[in-house]
Amino acid sequence: TIYPVILCGGSGTRLWPLSRKSYPKQFVPLIGETSLLQQCAERLRGPADTPYAKPLILTNEAFRFVVPEQLMAIGVDPGPILIEPEGRNTAPAVLAAALRLFSDDPDAMMLVAASDHVIPDTSAFHTAVAEGARTIAERGDLVTFGITPDRPETGYGYLKLRQVPDASGTPVQLDRFIEKPDLDSAKAMVSEGSYLWNSGIFLFAVRDILAAFDQYARELVAPVKKAIEQAQSDLGFLRLDPKAWSSVQDISIDYAVMEKADNLSVVPYAAGWSDVGSWSAVQALSNPDADGVATSGEVTAIDCRNVLVRSESPAQEVVAMGLENVIAVAMPDAVLVASVDRAQDVKQAVSALKAKG
Ligand code: GDD
Ligand code: MG
Repeated sequence: TIYPVILCGGSGTRLWPLSRKSYPKQFVPLIGETSLLQQCAERLRGPADTPYAKPLILTNEAFRFVVPEQLMAIGVDPGPILIEPEGRNTAPAVLAAALRLFSDDPDAMMLVAASDHVIPDTSAFHTAVAEGARTIAERGDLVTFGITPDRPETGYGYLKLRQVPDASGTPVQLDRFIEKPDLDSAKAMVSEGSYLWNSGIFLFAVRDILAAFDQYARELVAPVKKAIEQAQSDLGFLRLDPKAWSSVQDISIDYAVMEKADNLSVVPYAAGWSDVGSWSAVQALSNPDADGVATSGEVTAIDCRNVLVRSESPAQEVVAMGLENVIAVAMPDAVLVASVDRAQDVKQAVSALKAKG
């Protein structure tokens, strides 16, 4: 059985003012009518003929009510919700999930997914996961899903493959995993042509990822084990022990395990993926018209080109006229108006506001 593990701990600032620390982007309807978390949970029901198990969700105190509320609203019964007393990044989160699943089913396979990605083609995704599961059965590898890069993004992991993948999506063994390269290396890898981006979605046999943690990130194992053994369970939540958790190192799975392991396979995934890292990404995903105009809410755009204009409250009419290369997002309490080519800098605005108090 495939057990979905949903990482739902992020606190984004890049989509301010819609995404806030108190209510980050996975909880808001960004693309379509439902939230990214709801779309993720929907996708992770699995194929109708071979559904996946109930999702195991990892989140923090602040989101413990919104998570089950959003899942119940779409008829998904959340499995156990693991509460992290504080964020320790993805390696401890994945390890805690693996330990928890192992105690229930030592033969489990876990599908680690982020709650805030957009993956439009659900059935292609299920097919890719099935390919990954087959690879695990055949080779006992750790599996990641690889995306064809279209820019030298430095915020991603890069996957150097042993051979160039064919168009069929057949898994390929990994030669090297390079997390968050500098710009020059990223440029070189993109132009070299045989690298893929790490999507941040992983498929592991629980047994194998635990062995990898033992081998490559041993210092995490004892404290995370303790945090889960001493976890307090109440009302469907499993609260990791705060004292044990506070001694766990803050590190991502990419640095802790993926860069070091030598048994990685990649399922090339070409059916569309985005981690919605900027307002430009939202614009591209919002069905822009031939002039590049994408709107949402009560918006009238007249003579505009290459704009994203959103009104986030039903009572607020927004009119955009004669604009070019502009992103405008109007909330009841805050408005962003920015040049499209500054979309990557929105987090700076948030820091500036924070400094202002
Ligand atoms: N529960 C929980 N707890 N979730 C977390 C935590 C945590 O402490 N930290 C991060 N997450 C969630 C985030 O909300 C996000 O959905 C996912 O885990 C990945 O974390 P990011 O912080 O967004 O990672 P990244 O973007 O720097 O890099 C990862 O994703 C890229 C693709 O989007 C890496 O896996 C890269 O290699 C990859 O290319
Ligand atoms: Mg990310």
